[in-house]
Amino acid sequence: MATKALIIDYSWSGTTAKLATALQRVTGGDRVDLTVAAGTFPNDMYATSDVANRQLATHQLPALTNAVPDIGAYDVLLVGGPVWSGKVSTPVRSFLQQLANFSGIVAPFYTDAGTPGDYEADLASLIPAATVVPGIGLTAGELQGADRQLTRWWQRLAAK
Ligand SMILES: Cc1cc2nc3c(=O)[nH]c(=O)nc-3n(C[C@H](O)[C@H](O)[C@H](O)COP(=O)(O)O)c2cc1C
Repeated sequence: MATKALIIDYSWSGTTAKLATALQRVTGGDRVDLTVAAGTFPNDMYATSDVANRQLATHQLPALTNAVPDIGAYDVLLVGGPVWSGKVSTPVRSFLQQLANFSGIVAPFYTDAGTPGDYEADLASLIPAATVVPGIGLTAGELQGADRQLTRWWQRLAAK
């Protein structure tokens, strides 16, 4: 299995970062954590939801403050983030804008509190040129002991 993965994730409160760490272990891939400027989001979940909704309504997605390596060097991009209101979070949306013309393989991973909504369909709609394969979504409680599930998911993906 020679598939080279780049893991790109945003995590507001650390849960998706844990899933990214597990996926790093399972895939042996490189990893980039997406970051936004300090103060972009409040500490409160509901206030953060308000900020995100405003960003969506005004089409002003948050600027990312990290550099992304050359994505052309990878066979697959694993793009991760939290589910926000059943959709892709605004920092991940910012990153996906950079994939507007990307025609490679993208595999979504995400965490939620039990209501993922139409996360994967939303993500796929944002990068129509890419091949978006079935992703993996877990709650914080499901993260513990998920390695076998993650390994199976990755092996199916890498075998494509
Ligand atoms: C703004 C906001 C909106 C959210 N919307 C949802 C949602 O629609 N469905 C859900 O199950 N969880 C929702 N959550 C909970 C997060 O998806 C969940 O806690 C996730 O694991 C957090 O990941 P993170 O720690 O990587 O940010 C929301 C959280 C925030 C902050």
